Amino acid sequence: MILERNNFLNIKQIEEQFNRLNLQDRIPDVKELINIYQLCHAGANEIGTKLENLDDEYSMADDHNPIHHMEERLKSVDSLFGKLKRKGYDLTIENVGEHIHDIAGIRVVTNYIDDIYTVEQALSEQSDVTVLKRKDYIENPKKSGYRSLHLVVSVPVFQSKGVFDVPVEIQFRTIGMDMWASLEHQLSYKTDADPKKIQQHSANLKHYAKELNDIEIRMQAIFRDLQTK
Ligand code: GTP
Ligand code: MG
Repeated sequence: MILERNNFLNIKQIEEQFNRLNLQDRIPDVKELINIYQLCHAGANEIGTKLENLDDEYSMADDHNPIHHMEERLKSVDSLFGKLKRKGYDLTIENVGEHIHDIAGIRVVTNYIDDIYTVEQALSEQSDVTVLKRKDYIENPKKSGYRSLHLVVSVPVFQSKGVFDVPVEIQFRTIGMDMWASLEHQLSYKTDADPKKIQQHSANLKHYAKELNDIEIRMQAIFRDLQTK
C-alpha cells in the first residue's frame, strides 16, 4: 500500500496565501493559523499511521490488503477561508476551529466495498478515535452518482504544551469509485465547454456510477467466495 502525502505543511506557502488574502486585520498573528495547520498535520499523521498499521495487520492475517493506497492532504488557506465565507462565518481563527473540520484530509482507496466497512469499523473502535460525523454516500449516493463513505474523526495529538483533539476528514472509496470521482471532478471544471455536451456527460456518468457499483458488488461476491475456500 502506498501512502502519498501531498501538499504537506509548507509554512512559507501558508504565510504567502495568508498575506495574499489580506486577513491581517482579522487574524493579527499568522502564527495562530500555522499552529492550527501544524496540529492538523500531526492529526493526519496519527490517523495515517493507524490506517497503515491496520492494513499491515489484515495483510498478515488474511493475505489481503484492504487498502490499495492512501492520499493525505492539507486544505489550502484559500479554500479554507473560501469555505468559511461560503458558510457565512466571519474569517476568524475561532471560526476556523469551530466550523472547519477538514483541514486534514485522508483519502483511503480500497480494493473492494467490504474493505471500506472493515477498515472503518476497526478504526472507529479504537479508544482514542471519536467519530464526529459520518455520511454514507455508498448507501445513499449523491444526485451526481457520487459514492464514498465520509467520516470526520477526532484524534488526540500530544504536543509539548498538552493534548489537543484534532479533527481529520477521511474519505473511503473503492478504486472504481475513485476513478469515477476523478473524471466527474474534471467535468465539473469544464465550465467553458458546450452546456449540452456537459449535461450529456453528466447524465452518462450518473448511469455509469450505477453500473460500476453493480460490477463492484459482483466482483466482491467472487472475492468473498475465493476467501472462504
Ligand atoms: P463541505 O462543508 O463542503 O465539506 O460539505 P460536506 O462535508 O457536507 O461535503 P461533502 O460530504 O459533500 O464532501 C465534500 C467532498 O466530497 C468534496 O470535497 C469532494 O472531494 C467529495 N465530493 C462530494 N460530492 C461529490 C461529487 O458529486 N463529485 C465528486 N467528484 N466529488 C464529490
Ligand atoms: Mg467536507
